[in-house]
Amino acid sequence: MVTQYLRSHVSYSRKRSFLTIMSGLIIGFCLGQIISYVTISESIKSISIPVDKNSQNDIKQLAPSINTFPEIIHDHPYDNSTVADQLKKEVRLLCWVMTNPTNHKEKARHVKRTWGKRCNILLFMSSAQDDELPTVKLDVGEGRENLWRKVKEAFKYVYKHHYNDADWFYKADDDTYAIIENLRLMLYPYNPMTPVHFGYKFKPFVKQGYMSGGSGYVLSKEALRRFVVEGIPNPKKCLPGTVVNEDIEIGRCMENLNVTAGDSRDWNGRGRMFPFIPEHHLITKVDMSWWYWQYQFYKTDEGLDCCSDNAIAFHYVSPKMMYVMDYLIYHLKPYGIVREPHRLPAKLKVGEFLPPPIQEIVNSNEDSMDDDDKLIKTTTIKSTPTEPDSREVDSKEVDSLTAKLHKPVNKKKESKSAKAIKAKTKKN
Ligand SMILES: *[C@@H]1O[C@H](CO)[C@@H](O)[C@H](O)[C@H]1NC(C)=O
Ligand SMILES: *[C@@H]1O[C@H](CO)[C@@H](O)[C@H](O)[C@H]1NC(C)=O
Repeated sequence: MVTQYLRSHVSYSRKRSFLTIMSGLIIGFCLGQIISYVTISESIKSISIPVDKNSQNDIKQLAPSINTFPEIIHDHPYDNSTVADQLKKEVRLLCWVMTNPTNHKEKARHVKRTWGKRCNILLFMSSAQDDELPTVKLDVGEGRENLWRKVKEAFKYVYKHHYNDADWFYKADDDTYAIIENLRLMLYPYNPMTPVHFGYKFKPFVKQGYMSGGSGYVLSKEALRRFVVEGIPNPKKCLPGTVVNEDIEIGRCMENLNVTAGDSRDWNGRGRMFPFIPEHHLITKVDMSWWYWQYQFYKTDEGLDCCSDNAIAFHYVSPKMMYVMDYLIYHLKPYGIVREPHRLPAKLKVGEFLPPPIQEIVNSNEDSMDDDDKLIKTTTIKSTPTEPDSREVDSKEVDSLTAKLHKPVNKKKESKSAKAIKAKTKKN
């Protein structure tokens, strides 16, 4: 049709047909933009993170059989857990898991049966009573828009009932998987009276960064006190009412309360708390959500070198995967290889912090990276009331941007971290 039309008009007026094509292209482009805009706003509304497509099925399959679902309960008489046991006494950890009535049976109970049981105290925060878990029934409505209120109510409850029972207070979701021993290791040197909180740090919206909600965040005893006593009652410090983005809001609140956003990377600069499942960090996906690359506070390696040997938390872990992780981490061991724990670091005084990871010191001799790093640390993006939930933006939105952001960063950093490791190995 179009070609026919063009052909019949070519001799008549070349200029005119050119204009027709151009306006056609422009209209087409605009329509495309409108359509893709609509698609994007749709996708922002629904949770569209690259989760395992089978995970919904997983939950359905797992639920009916759960009462007969066998737990791995056998001893490992030759395991030496002296150090882990010592840390359990010295670094007392209260974990509270954000859940909701739909998820009590489908997700929360699997948290309890896997990683949750390793916390000193484990609480499930929900809007409904459930004696089996059990839950703490908070007086808040359900739904994502109530998340911020729920977080505040949960920490108020924790402060009121358990302030003296723990040193650190970890908030997680019911699709978080955490390796509690490694969380204690990270916290071990810190004094609980230091105002600090740790998590996977994102850089926008809050000057010092904020902790991504999904892999959880852990507040020191003093951070908890400031939040509940000085923050929540003061609308100048912490946002009253409720919003969806609880992680950004608590980040703002922590900054206003002078609670430092801690660095959860290990001594080598490898990440320990992660916003996705292990596979998405280990096997780098170029189409991994574009915002992830923009939001990272620290430029970390992705790929097989991504993650600390003492990793602490992952997000979007399906209930089935929690059992798999538990088996791989706590049971499966290659015979004849025993890893002795490193010596524990020295304890810090109140207000003292560990120096940044070795990797950063190596990088500081290299100009290009230096500037990038500075930029990242000082960039403040002003928030707007319409900002999307950071965890809900679709991965497919800006493929080209992702590729652009992703590829050079990764290559460059890989070689650098390799250098860092070599430098470290030489020194020893
Ligand atoms: C267990 O490990 C600790 C620390 O590595 C060590 O001091 C202790 O001797 C070990 N115990 C046994 C029975 O091997
Ligand atoms: C914030 O904390 C730092 C270190 O803990 C302290 O030096 C500073 O005075 C505090 N600022 C305010 C406003 O409390």
